[in-house]
Amino acid sequence: MAKRNGLLVARSRAEAREWRRQAQTQGKRIALVPTMGALHAGHLSLVKLGLERADVVAASIFVNPTQFAAHEDLSTYPRAEDSDLQKLAEAGCTFCYCPTPAEIYPAGDSTRVTVKDLSHLLEGEIRPHFFEGVASVVSRLFLHMGPDIAVFGEKDYQQLLVIRRMVQDLGFGIEIVGGQTTREADGLAMSSRNAYLDKEERARAPGLARVMRETATLLEGGAGIRAAADAAKTEILAAGFTSVDYVEARRADTLAPFGLECAPVGASGRLLVAARMGKTRLIDNVGFVRR
Ligand code: PAJ
Repeated sequence: MAKRNGLLVARSRAEAREWRRQAQTQGKRIALVPTMGALHAGHLSLVKLGLERADVVAASIFVNPTQFAAHEDLSTYPRAEDSDLQKLAEAGCTFCYCPTPAEIYPAGDSTRVTVKDLSHLLEGEIRPHFFEGVASVVSRLFLHMGPDIAVFGEKDYQQLLVIRRMVQDLGFGIEIVGGQTTREADGLAMSSRNAYLDKEERARAPGLARVMRETATLLEGGAGIRAAADAAKTEILAAGFTSVDYVEARRADTLAPFGLECAPVGASGRLLVAARMGKTRLIDNVGFVRR
């Protein structure tokens, strides 16, 4: 196995399994941080969380073709393996699985993992195959690497819930830990896709996080759910976004609608958004608790 910057890099599942076997023989508790690379401080915050909860942190870098639709950005998705490995090593990660597509999807592969219901609302309505792609790749990463815990960002809140459901249903026995969203100083949630924004778009983009924060505050105070979401949509467009795919306040645990005019006192909710700035699609979400 190749060693780069003190980090062991596995390219095959056999190498990943061998590393896992050795770490387990040494009695090490393993945390896994799955990524698609083009790493930023948000990804590295998950490595830090992993280090707090386990003895060793492994990452994976794999731009997963099955979660991209034909019209999406698979071919242009930013790739920066050298600097990614350096950042991971500096953050304290000691192992990275960078499989080739054939290691994850062998020739003739025809197996997919589908998490029903949760995968078909919000993001799933706009990107119908997205969560099947995510669940399929994450289940394989779990099988190849056998971690004790795996860390995912709340930035992709629905993804976090889909993974939790899958792990519970399939009995993986892996603890799923959620990490808070890391933001730029102006509030924009860090994302590999922020690199697509031109200078003017980048200047307008923090409007999304601002509207989300303000709307969450209104919902905490008992504002009407539909009215608050509609007003948020208007404000996001006024902030210079091209279109809004959805902005919805849902129950934090299931993403089901509240089914009431305003969230009941004490209820935990999540306000989720996907909006387009020119060609770039940004997602964000914030939690709220009705006072
Ligand atoms: P990717 O977008 O590279 O994100 C990898 C992990 O980093 C995810 O758990 C994501 O939620 C988290 N993350 C991204 N931006 C973050 C931020 N600003 N703050 C905190 N965490 C952040 O999500 C994926 O890749 C893929 O779908 C994957 C799970 C790897 C499956 O292919």
